[in-house]
Formats: sequence, C-alpha cells, structure tokens
Amino acid sequence: MFSHFARPELLPCPWSDRRSCSGDDMLAGQALRELNVGCAGLQALDRIGLNIDFDELRRSRAAVPDAVLICGKAEALPIADNALRCVYSTVTLPYTNIPQALREIWRVLAPGGTAHLRFHDWWMWRERTWRSLRRGNWKDVTFQAYTLLNSQFLWFGTVMRFPLRRSRLESYQSPELVRHLLQRAGFGDVVVKRDHPHLRAFAAKP
Ligand SMILES: C[S@@+](CC[C@H](N)C(=O)[O-])C[C@H]1O[C@@H](n2cnc3c(N)ncnc32)[C@H](O)[C@@H]1O
Repeated sequence: MFSHFARPELLPCPWSDRRSCSGDDMLAGQALRELNVGCAGLQALDRIGLNIDFDELRRSRAAVPDAVLICGKAEALPIADNALRCVYSTVTLPYTNIPQALREIWRVLAPGGTAHLRFHDWWMWRERTWRSLRRGNWKDVTFQAYTLLNSQFLWFGTVMRFPLRRSRLESYQSPELVRHLLQRAGFGDVVVKRDHPHLRAFAAKP
C-alpha cells in the first residue's frame, strides 16, 4: 500500500481523512485488517504497524520492508471506523492516555472485531519502586509516585502527564482496572489474565 513512509506530516496515508472513505475501500486484503499499535522494530510484521516514534518505524521498515507503517498516536488512530478485524498492542497502552486509546481501538474495530492487549501489571510497579528505593534512586521514586497517582486517575477515566517532564506519561494496571477500562470503552467478552510481569487482555466489540 505504501512504497515508503515519511515523517507524520508527509506520510502518504490514505486513512488520514477517515470521513471520506470506508474501511473496505482502504483495506483491500484481509491481511491488512490487523493493526499493531506501538509496533517495535524487530517484530515480524505481516500487518499494519503504528508507532508515535519515527525511529521505531524506521527499524520496523528495515526488519520487514513491505510492512504497512503509520506514524501516529494510539489516541487518534488515522483509520476509518469499523475498518479492522483485530487490534493488538503489547505494553504500549501504559504509555498512552488509555481511555482515549481504547475508545479509538473500539472505533476502528468492526463489530465482532477483537482487541488483544498487554498492560503493565501492578506488580511491576512494586518491583521497580522497591528497586529504586533500595538504590536510593529518588528521581525514579518520584516518578513512580506519579505513576501510582496516575493509575488511580484511570478509574475516573482520565490520566495526567508527569508534571516535572510533560513528555512522559505512564501508568500501571490491575486486572480489575483493565476490565473496568475495557467495559467503559464499550467492549464485551472481556478476559484479563496475569502473565508476569504483564496483564493480557482480550475483548470484543459487540
Ligand atoms: C515498551 S515499547 C513496546 C514496543 C512493542 N510493542 C513491544 O512489545 O516490544 C512502547 C512503544 O510504544 C510507543 N508509543 C508510546 N506512546 C505511544 C502513543 N501515544 N501512540 C503510539 N505509540 C506509542 C513507543 O514509541 C514504543 O515503541
């Protein structure tokens, strides 16, 4: 679909105007109905990859030359409504505004489409904070105090950026929180399992 990719403002992305075309117009083959949100360089991509980081996409391009890659944000997917049959994302959503990203994933999935998502288990927070405390890494302890608070905000459908460095956004999840967030975004058939140090979630758009 794309012979090349470029910086976001130059990306020849036919999905950028989602109101003017339907999912079927845009995604001709079934193989292109799966989106990896936050794809990483060495992953074998046989589908569409999206990442906010252009360098990450450059590595994906090197690993899989014919991959369809989009430079974009999980919170504003440049993809038509109801276009995809599957969206998956491995430990990327904890760095995003999760309620917004889940709403977007729900929007781009066709009815019956599924989301396969991996989150940061709460246990990771405990391990990392304990390690930083033992090492006297107060900078990270401060950051973890922020992630703890941020994770509580998620229950109310919001998140905040790290006040001391606005480019950073991170949170941790519990199985109950992931279930709550997915259901709030409109998903059904929600299953959440612990897979240390992550949480694996499956959900379907009714
Ligand atoms: C921890 S890495 C995970 C990468 C890969 N999914 C994996 O499992 O190895 C998180 C990735 O999310 C990307 N990312 C962070 N915020 C994002 C956002 N708002 N939208 C899309 N990608 C984002 C980062 O650039 C990074 O590549």
